[in-house]
Amino acid sequence: MKYLLPLIISIAFSAGAPGHEANRTLPVDSIASLSAGQCLILGRAVPPGMMPRTFQDGQLVCSDLKRWTSGFFPGTCWYSYLLSGREEVRALAENFTERMLDVDSYFRDHDIGFQIMCSAGIAYRITKDDKYLPAIRRAAEFLAARYSPITGTIKSWNSSKPVSKVIVDNMMNLELLTFASRQFGVPEWMEIAESHADKTIANHFREDGSSFHLVEYDPGSGAVLVKKTVQGYSDESAWSRGQAWGLYGFTMMYRETGEERYLHQAEKIARFLLPLVAERPVPAWDFNAPEPLSTQDDASAAAIMASAFVELGTLSLDKALAYRCSSMARTILKELASPRYLAAPGEIGGFLLKHSTGHYKAGSEVDVPLTYADYYFMEALCREFRPDLLRR
Ligand code: GLY
Repeated sequence: MKYLLPLIISIAFSAGAPGHEANRTLPVDSIASLSAGQCLILGRAVPPGMMPRTFQDGQLVCSDLKRWTSGFFPGTCWYSYLLSGREEVRALAENFTERMLDVDSYFRDHDIGFQIMCSAGIAYRITKDDKYLPAIRRAAEFLAARYSPITGTIKSWNSSKPVSKVIVDNMMNLELLTFASRQFGVPEWMEIAESHADKTIANHFREDGSSFHLVEYDPGSGAVLVKKTVQGYSDESAWSRGQAWGLYGFTMMYRETGEERYLHQAEKIARFLLPLVAERPVPAWDFNAPEPLSTQDDASAAAIMASAFVELGTLSLDKALAYRCSSMARTILKELASPRYLAAPGEIGGFLLKHSTGHYKAGSEVDVPLTYADYYFMEALCREFRPDLLRR
C-alpha cells in the first residue's frame, strides 16, 4: 500500500534535556523488522483457534479465545504491519483477527473490550473494512448489558456472591462503547461509558492520584462495600499495571468525549506517575512493593504507560505537563528497546519484550513475556512515529 513507506534508519528524539535518554536515537526500523519476524514466528507456532499468551521455561504458552488476552496478538500484527509494511504480516493480522469475529463463542465479561477492540477494532481502523463491524457491535451489546443503573457501573467480573466487582482495568474497555456509540448511533452506550468513568473517578481514586484495583458495590443499593486489590501488593498499594490502565483509560475517555473532567483525571494520574517512572522507567510490578519483591519489573505496565503518555502529551492543555508526558514516553520506549527488555531475533519464542509480570502474588506469569506488553509497545511506537497511519 502506498502509504506504507519504509521508515528511515533511525529517528532521533528531539525532546528532553541534553544527555537525557530521550535525546538518543531509537532504531525504529530495526524494531519494525524485528517485530515482523517475531510475529511470523508466533504465527507459525500457534495452533488454530488459539492465541499466544506467554513464553515460559522455553515453551510457548497459548490460550483459547476466552482468555482476556486473546485479542492482543492480532493487534500486534496490525501494528507490526503498519511499521514494517510487510504484506505477509498483514496476512497474518487478517488471519488472526478472523479468529476473533465469533464473539458469542468466547464472550465472558468486561474483557470483551480488550478482546475485540485490540483485534477487530484495530483492523477496522486500519482497513475500514465493514466485515469487522458486526463483531464490534455484538461485543458492545454484551458489554453494555453488564451495566447497572443502580451502581452506575459496568460489572467487570462475574461473581457467585451478591456483589458487583469493578476493577480499574475496566476503564480500558469503555472505548468499545464510545466507538460503537458513534459508529452505530447508540447514544446510550456513550452514556454508560461516561457513567462508569465518573463512578471510577469517585470511588477508585485516592487523593494522590493513585488508584485501588477493585471496588465492590452492593448491586441492590449501589453503595461501595469495599476497596481492595487482587493483583497488587496490598489493598492500599499502587499496582503498577492498574495505574497504567487508569492513565490510558482517562486519556482515551478525554479523546473520545472532549469532557475536561477526564483530562483532569488523566493529568492527576500522570502527576502521580511521572516522578516514579523518572526514577525507574520500567517499574516494579507494584510501586509500593518492598524489597526484595520490588526487584521484579513489569514491562507491560511500562509499555501501557508509554502509549498513554504519547497520547496525553498531545492532548494535555498544560504545556509543561504535556512536555513531561511526551518526554517520558520516549524515555520508557528507549528503555524497553534496550537489550535488557527487547528480544533478539528469534528469541523468547517470537515475543518482543522480556520481564513482564502477570500476577505476582499468585506466582503466575512472573518475569515472562506477555502478549499485551508487546501490543502496547508496538502501539506506542506507532503513535509516536507514525501517527499519520493511525488517524481515524
Ligand atoms: N486486566 C488484567 C490484568 O491487567 O492483569
